[in-house]
Amino acid sequence: MILPIVAYGDPVLKQVAKDIEIGTDLKSLVDDMFETMYEAHGIGLAAPQIGKSIRLFIVDGTQLEDEDEPILKTFKKAFINPTILEETGKPWAMEEGCLSIPGIRENVSRKEKLTIRYYDMDWKLHEETYDGMAARIIQHEYDHIEGKLFVDYLSPLRKRLLKGKLANISKGITDADYKMRFPLASKAR
Ligand code: NI
Repeated sequence: MILPIVAYGDPVLKQVAKDIEIGTDLKSLVDDMFETMYEAHGIGLAAPQIGKSIRLFIVDGTQLEDEDEPILKTFKKAFINPTILEETGKPWAMEEGCLSIPGIRENVSRKEKLTIRYYDMDWKLHEETYDGMAARIIQHEYDHIEGKLFVDYLSPLRKRLLKGKLANISKGITDADYKMRFPLASKAR
């Protein structure tokens, strides 16, 4: 089932998400999240973006072809109750976008490497280290469950320049071609 993606301005995107009870059956929710993400052509989606303030996000970097990063070929999974244990390396900038903030892409600087502990769909615990694009996707999605968005990293000037665009997204004024839920939609019409 395709779920509406929550747009910028919704309070759920600012909340620190709660841990999920161990053993909870997440299969149908995760299936729906993958379907929703693919419909929107995303490479990552966090539960707050479908309105659920729980510590869960999914990624699929398998379409990002990169000879230097063979791990991406199998980088499709759900991260449940994740904790980033360590981030190391030199910060590098990359243009990011977000399904909750359609039409805006900005450079964000993040450290190159991380170690994350998380549960998989069978509630098996993993501890893994990632770098490159995989780390970047994890950092962006992990921020979502910490109530943080990539635009929070922008300079005050840059943020001011985008203010009107962001306000429009909250009102539903966007050309996103996927199903969304807008916090201020009723006031806009
Ligand atoms: Ni995002």
